[in-house]
Order: sequence, then structure tokens, then C-alpha cells
Amino acid sequence: MHPMLNTAIKAARRAATVINRASFDLDRITISEKNHNDFVTDIDQAAEAAIVETLLKAYPDHAILAEESGASKNLNDESENVWIIDPIDGTTNFLHGYPNYCISIALQQRGVITNALVYDPVRNDLFTATKGAGAYLNDKRIRVRSHDRIGKALLSAGHGPDPRQLAEYLRMYEVVASRCHGVRSGGSAALELANVAAGRIDGFFEKGLKVWDIAAGSLLVTEAGGIVGEFNGESDYLHKGDVIAAGPKVFGAMVPLLSPFA
Ligand code: IPD
Ligand code: CA
Repeated sequence: MHPMLNTAIKAARRAATVINRASFDLDRITISEKNHNDFVTDIDQAAEAAIVETLLKAYPDHAILAEESGASKNLNDESENVWIIDPIDGTTNFLHGYPNYCISIALQQRGVITNALVYDPVRNDLFTATKGAGAYLNDKRIRVRSHDRIGKALLSAGHGPDPRQLAEYLRMYEVVASRCHGVRSGGSAALELANVAAGRIDGFFEKGLKVWDIAAGSLLVTEAGGIVGEFNGESDYLHKGDVIAAGPKVFGAMVPLLSPFA
């Protein structure tokens, strides 16, 4: 395993200790609303602090881009190593006690995501990938499911907290759900990407995501043999924030259905 990924695992396990302890006493959590329906808790902040501290202790000159604290001072266009962190992806689930959330950490080196982890602290599922070396769930190699038809697929979709997204989401849902076995909505984009990588679902789509929602999960999917792209099939999804992820055949069937919404 890549030594930097090992450090990220150590950081994620520290954050998981904070999150799991808090999950037993949700009434004590302090919640603030960043925007309408977009929440942050003191546990997101404490988990993020534990991750950043662990990473910077090992690699003091690395840059950080994290959901709650933003960009570190040394983040710029020249930064060689950037850690992209979401301490709890699925904060709304977490604060309701709905056990579907994860820690997401990716390492971007000279603009390329090279190492990734998504850790589900509820199920103790650790998804990891290193570019060119495959994707793993705990110690087992994972692959996307190879359905040849979208008609046999189970898909997942998400929508952000902005109420203006809802009408479009419902139109997309209608177009896609009538053509597959079903469309689920898990509330944690990073975990849904990991589920695509592990072949638990056949595909995922969502618009308007942030880079920390996507960075780690997208490497898991591509290293598991899948494709990640924008709604028009193009590959600038990390910046655009609109994502389709699936095995190659299902991805090919999803793009024409969703490209009108690009
Ligand atoms: C959210 C989750 C959710 C997605 C939202 C994200 P957060 O991230 O990934 O599934 O639909 O767009 O903002 O706020 O829980 O870290
Ligand atoms: Ca997130």
C-alpha cells in the first residue's frame, strides 16, 4: 500500500472514533445551518481537525482543501500534493441518526487524484484505491458490476440542499427510474460512488456536487473498472460537479438519458 494512503487511513480512523462516539449521543451535537438545509455540526469540525492534524504531522508541506475549514494557506496552483477532505459526507443523515455517511479523503498530486479512501464508520467498510493499482474494500479487490443493460440496473441519485434543484431532480428521476430496476437516494455522494465501485449498485448520478464529495469516490470507481463523467459524458466532472458514475455499458446508456440536463 502507498505510504501516503496508510497515513490517510490512520487519519480516517481517528476521525471515525470522534464520529462513532458522538453517534451514541446525538442530542449533544451542536448543529449550525450554513445555507438552507446545508448543515454542519461540531462533530464535522472535530473530525476534520483530527484528519488535518494527522496528515500535516506526517507531511507538513502538503496543502489541504477541506469542506469545513476550506483551503490551507499553502494551497495554490503550484501545490504538488493536495489533500481533499470531507470529514462527514452525509451530515444530514448523521445528525438524524440515519446510519449512512462516510469520511472521504483523496490525495491530488500535480492535479491528478492518485490515492483515495472512503471510510464508512458504521459498517467498518474501508474503500481504498491507488491510481493504477485497483480498488479495494477492506482487503478485497472490488469491481463495478458488469450489467450490459440499464434495464437490469439498480441506480442511485442525489440532490443538493438548494430547493431550486428539486424540480430538475424529479424530472431526471422520472426519465431514469422508468428504465431501470429502481433509483435509490442514499444521501452521501461519496458513499454512493464507493458502492458503485463495489458493485453494490450499478450507477450513480447527481448535479452540483463539490470537489470533496467526488474526489475520492471517483478514483474508486475508475480503479474498479468504471467510468466517471459529466452529464454530457465529458471528463471535467471534478470542476463541474455534475457526475455520472457506472460500469462502461450502463454509463453509455445513462449519458443519452441525462445529457438533456447537462
Ligand atoms: C452532501 C451529500 C449528499 C449530496 C449533497 C452533498 P455533506 O454532502 O454528499 O449526498 O446530495 O449534494 O452536499 O453536506 O453531507 O457533506
Ligand atoms: Ca459532502
